[in-house]
Amino acid sequence: VNTSVRFQPVLPWRLALSGAKPGAVRPFPLDQPRVVTTFSGTAAIYQAGKSLRLPEGATVLVPSYNCGHEIEPFLRLGLRVECYRVMADLQIDLADVERRMRKSAGALLITHYFGFGQPLEAIRALCDRHGVMLIEDCAHALFSDNAARNLGRVGDAAVYSMRKSLPLPHGGAVLFNNSSLPLPAPLTPPPALVTHLKTLDLVKKSTLHDFAGTRSLRSLLQVAAVAPFVIGGNVLQRLQPKSSAGCYDPDDDDYAFNTSILSWDADPAALRILDAIDWRSIAERRLANYRVLAAGISSLRGFRLLLPYPHERTCPLFLPVATNKRLEVFRHLVSHRIHAGIWWDQEHPAVPWSDYPEARELKQRVLALPVHQDLDANDLQRMLAALASAPV
Ligand SMILES: Cc1ncc(COP(=O)(O)O)c(C=O)c1O
Repeated sequence: VNTSVRFQPVLPWRLALSGAKPGAVRPFPLDQPRVVTTFSGTAAIYQAGKSLRLPEGATVLVPSYNCGHEIEPFLRLGLRVECYRVMADLQIDLADVERRMRKSAGALLITHYFGFGQPLEAIRALCDRHGVMLIEDCAHALFSDNAARNLGRVGDAAVYSMRKSLPLPHGGAVLFNNSSLPLPAPLTPPPALVTHLKTLDLVKKSTLHDFAGTRSLRSLLQVAAVAPFVIGGNVLQRLQPKSSAGCYDPDDDDYAFNTSILSWDADPAALRILDAIDWRSIAERRLANYRVLAAGISSLRGFRLLLPYPHERTCPLFLPVATNKRLEVFRHLVSHRIHAGIWWDQEHPAVPWSDYPEARELKQRVLALPVHQDLDANDLQRMLAALASAPV
């Protein structure tokens, strides 16, 4: 049986229940002395922004192509955001950044989209010339690096969202590279229910995935075992008012989240799962999957590959393609039990979108294809076959 191709890696229940692993070695940046774990990438951006101690109303330059969760934390800190131009190939328009720095800016946020590094030397030089702090958004770039081996090490701070590349209920981090930036006071763990509900949601997806793949009695029993908890969790979530943080789901796209989540740490249970994951081969597998898929897509009509051929140290988060028939392709893939992502269609209200036509176009056209560590050669071939027959 061909199981469905999932958008993100699954969390096997055994990993969810794993105990503390004494002496577990954590991956970069979690092995660094000046790293602080957070609930999410959004919380990491908030903590990074706070430590810059910019005066109220100071300008933070942010990329025009964004999901909005990079913007909201600065607004919550009383800062002003201004977008700079990101081009159709996801590269930063450095001339536009410099023009805006000349007017006035306290900080610059750059995004290493899908794990592909931005030109850090040129960006750092611009920041130094204009006295601007630099935050590297590495939310897509866990395990990724560039030729100079300095991804995440050049910004005054770099932020991560481990939960995007690994099957964790939540988890982000800030690496404070600039030693003059103060580390935040200890953050508080999220309410236990937040961790348990999201862990359960991940386990549910993994047990359903197993059942679809094996149709065994054992996997059916596993589905039956988690079902009451999942149903109970859904009821609890529905009973919560929207503004409450008590059952907050980090995948919630709404920008009106409760500010308290920005000061949450990762729960020790989420970090235990991280310690139980064998993360060492993940970058290699993602890169190999990306290359196979990109090579196949390059000969298909109707799809534009957004990014250059990956560097050997790139760890891609997804493979983004631009297509004029995004929704039709998405539905076609679902009908083949392949789950892609309608990428970043939500628009943060603080952005004057009509001033950024390239970003808006990307918001309307980009489809993210999975390349994660759980996929095998059969999954990739199924994806390519489905894309080849898509209605583009
Ligand atoms: C580039 C980028 N930065 C930051 C974030 C925020 O990360 P998280 O979803 O973990 O809050 C996201 C995702 O929403 C993102 O795509």
